Amino acid sequence: MEIITSKKEITHYTKFLKSSNKKISLIPTMGNLHDGHLSLIKSSEDYESIKIASLFVNPLQFNSKEDFKNYPSTIDKDIKILQKNNIDCLFMPDKNDILPKDFENIKLPWGFNNLLCGKYRPGHFEGVYIIVKQLIDAINPDYMFFGEKDYQQLLLIKYIHQEFYKNINKLLIISCPTIRDASGLALSSRNNLLNDKQKTLVSKKILDIRENLMDLKTPLNNDDFSIEYIEEWNLSNLHSQHGLLDIEKKLNNKKRIFLAIYVGKVRLIDNFEIQ
Ligand code: PAF
Repeated sequence: MEIITSKKEITHYTKFLKSSNKKISLIPTMGNLHDGHLSLIKSSEDYESIKIASLFVNPLQFNSKEDFKNYPSTIDKDIKILQKNNIDCLFMPDKNDILPKDFENIKLPWGFNNLLCGKYRPGHFEGVYIIVKQLIDAINPDYMFFGEKDYQQLLLIKYIHQEFYKNINKLLIISCPTIRDASGLALSSRNNLLNDKQKTLVSKKILDIRENLMDLKTPLNNDDFSIEYIEEWNLSNLHSQHGLLDIEKKLNNKKRIFLAIYVGKVRLIDNFEIQ
């Protein structure tokens, strides 16, 4: 597996691949890889392509310095996992190289600042927008893979695609289902910040919410556990609040529950389809 740390070099590498008629899959990550990331890698195997994973903990998408500082980092282990899973190239840029010096004035559709995570994490989606555009422009991928656990992020990626890349190249955004552990907890790098007792507590709470939707309006907060939001959305409505113009027909009448909860200081998100 090649490891590339400079933007100029990755562009050179991917231009060379394109000139040899190779397709490129990009799996963007912030590291601390788990089975959720592996499922993205696995999905990329359905597309004949050179597999590039990126690893960059993007400071622009964290709301608090403490959250950024505490984000788990396991680079050596991640490199071994990527090698074992047949990734051809790891792009691991430095922040001064990958983040632009001047930020454009970003104006995202209403939902990204007023709904779900966007309401509670000011600036988060602008931060994701900046890094994802940088990665696409540097690598020029044909396929990109994102998990449904970060559903609103997926809407952002679809929006970026619609606004900038739909007519230019044939980039395909592939969304992959959430991967859960045996207790039903959605896999997330942040789960590593929980102790066993907290993990048991949070998976039980989320299961309660899934099974007893009437709890939606019941405050469940206590000292170690608090709910930031739990909301039910019709998906075509949600997509249009995020500026997506071509609402896929298959979304009609589909509904999902979205939630964000705190266990101690750790913030977790989840979402699941309901009938
Ligand atoms: O989902 C993530 O890991 C990050 O938000 C992403 C897409 C790699 C951008 O930093």
